[in-house]
Amino acid sequence: LEDPNKHHFLHVNDLTSAQLFHLLQTALDMKQQWKQNGKYQEKWLDGKTLAMIFAKPSARTRISFETGMYLLGGHALCLGEEVGIGKREAVKDVARVVASMNDAMMARLYAHSDLLELARFSKVPVINGLTDYNHPCQIVADALTILEEKKRLHGIKVVYMGDGNNIVHSWLELTSLVQDLEFVCCCPPGYEPNKTLLDLTNRCGRGKASIQHDPWKAVVNADVIYTDVWASMGQKSSLEQRLEIFAPYRVTLDVMKATGNPSVLFMHCLPAERGRECDDQNARTKCHFIILSWTVAE
Ligand code: CP
Ligand code: NVA
Repeated sequence: LEDPNKHHFLHVNDLTSAQLFHLLQTALDMKQQWKQNGKYQEKWLDGKTLAMIFAKPSARTRISFETGMYLLGGHALCLGEEVGIGKREAVKDVARVVASMNDAMMARLYAHSDLLELARFSKVPVINGLTDYNHPCQIVADALTILEEKKRLHGIKVVYMGDGNNIVHSWLELTSLVQDLEFVCCCPPGYEPNKTLLDLTNRCGRGKASIQHDPWKAVVNADVIYTDVWASMGQKSSLEQRLEIFAPYRVTLDVMKATGNPSVLFMHCLPAERGRECDDQNARTKCHFIILSWTVAE
């Protein structure tokens, strides 16, 4: 919030590697403080307001941002479809009016290009709350979960099973920042993530990313198995066809066993269709406020 021109958070790799690890350490320290005292010492966002624009539905993102703002002394406004971003009013006009009355904004939009435009015309920081291209807050929070559970990110093997979608793009962005992180996207042919981003991650990044189509080969030695819905918001019309195509990529207990790792973690960004993209057994749900993460483990 200090430097409005520089601090948009639209992609995980808008952060440097050092900034990512500083953010994760800050979150760990804050959680520790919360556990000890039941509150945060510093009201870092005292008197600040965050406008949240939701063109798509949300539970966790809204709850965590709104709760986080309150706990840190600020206030969040939840603006839904009535804003009509890009329909009722041009994206750049929404950017200008929201920025004129708020200290920051968070937006969940369909088109990533709209988010880029919002950021371009906003004089206050814009945070990406999910677009059709990526979901950076989710993946940074998932990195926090892995750090808590595994005590490291370096050298961890994450195998994502399913659609090479927006969640995968944020995993690729994270992979570019973490030394020796191994990210495998195991998807049906034709459902791979953006090739330019994949190539860039491998050419310039610190970790390594690959695509595999055979789940049984992909999961060997995985530390984390991750999945997401097979049809993201806005793709529901192709669901019938997708159910058939993605069936071999369902995370079952056999898939978990095939990792050969007794302490493998299972994670899903949620919401999930229970019993569809993963078995509906032994689930433990964990939630981080402030930066958001939902992990179904065991
Ligand atoms: N994971 C996630 O972003 O959840 P919501 O869609 O409920 O916000
Ligand atoms: N891929 C999903 C993620 C939801 C958090 C979607 O875009 O709907």
